[in-house]
Amino acid sequence: MIVFEGVTKRRGRRVAVADLDLRIAEGELLALVGGSGSGKTTTLELVNRLLEADEGTVSVGGRDVREVPAPELRRTIGYVFQGLGLFPHWTVGENIGVTCRLLGWSPARVRARARELLEAMDLDPALAAEYPASLSGGQRQRIAVARALAAEPPVVLFDEPFGALDPPTRDRLQALVEARRGSFTGIFVTHDLGEALRLGDRVAVLHQGRLQQVDSPSALVARPATEAVRRLVEVGRATAERFRGSP
Ligand SMILES: Nc1ncnc2c1ncn2[C@@H]1O[C@H](COP(=O)(O)OP(=O)(O)OP(=O)(O)O)[C@@H](O)[C@H]1O
Ligand SMILES: [Mg+2]
Repeated sequence: MIVFEGVTKRRGRRVAVADLDLRIAEGELLALVGGSGSGKTTTLELVNRLLEADEGTVSVGGRDVREVPAPELRRTIGYVFQGLGLFPHWTVGENIGVTCRLLGWSPARVRARARELLEAMDLDPALAAEYPASLSGGQRQRIAVARALAAEPPVVLFDEPFGALDPPTRDRLQALVEARRGSFTGIFVTHDLGEALRLGDRVAVLHQGRLQQVDSPSALVARPATEAVRRLVEVGRATAERFRGSP
């Protein structure tokens, strides 16, 4: 449903993504893991045409993204940006409803949907009337997720959406994404291998712009294909062991 074929993207003098081949099936949630600067955000930006590939093709739903007008493409893709990207001069309700309004939903339906999503995110529906500046970082992060899901898009891209949340909130929001798995095709970017293993139907690992391995969570942990994957799995295991060992 989302297909990368031989995709290379240069940024400045660096190759941010090198010769990427990747297929994400309809209804699949692919977790994309890798260190800082490994090309994760670049990969997402190639899907909704914030960036264009230098080589190769990216297609969504069988169409080369270059052949779809960008606004039309973006209406079908929910995107939780790294660093939020809420519109500061719009209320929370207006932020959540932005794509729904573009799709021509009635104001009453947009309001009802915003309310429903605020409740699903464990937030007070009265927040709909507030502005992003009056919310905590974690609340804003949840609004960004609500906005991406509001119009029930067929494709959802998550760029480290839960990075700054406290563990209990993070756990609740992971459960929320988990519960919706299968209802959209998506890529979930995270630094956290544990989160990737929990949420991904498959997990893909990027290292310095190169795809190292794409596998089921259990296969990735059992049989790391490269040194970079092995290190990622080892660091995760070492952290888990250290905590298991403490009184
Ligand atoms: N606006 C930009 N201009 C030039 N180079 C960029 C730009 N944004 C990213 N890059 C380069 O592209 C490469 C990949 O960056 P990208 O943002 O995709 O990494 P990332 O995996 O999302 O990292 P992080 O986990 O820190 O968000 C990096 O080497 C980075 O320096
Ligand atoms: Mg990034």
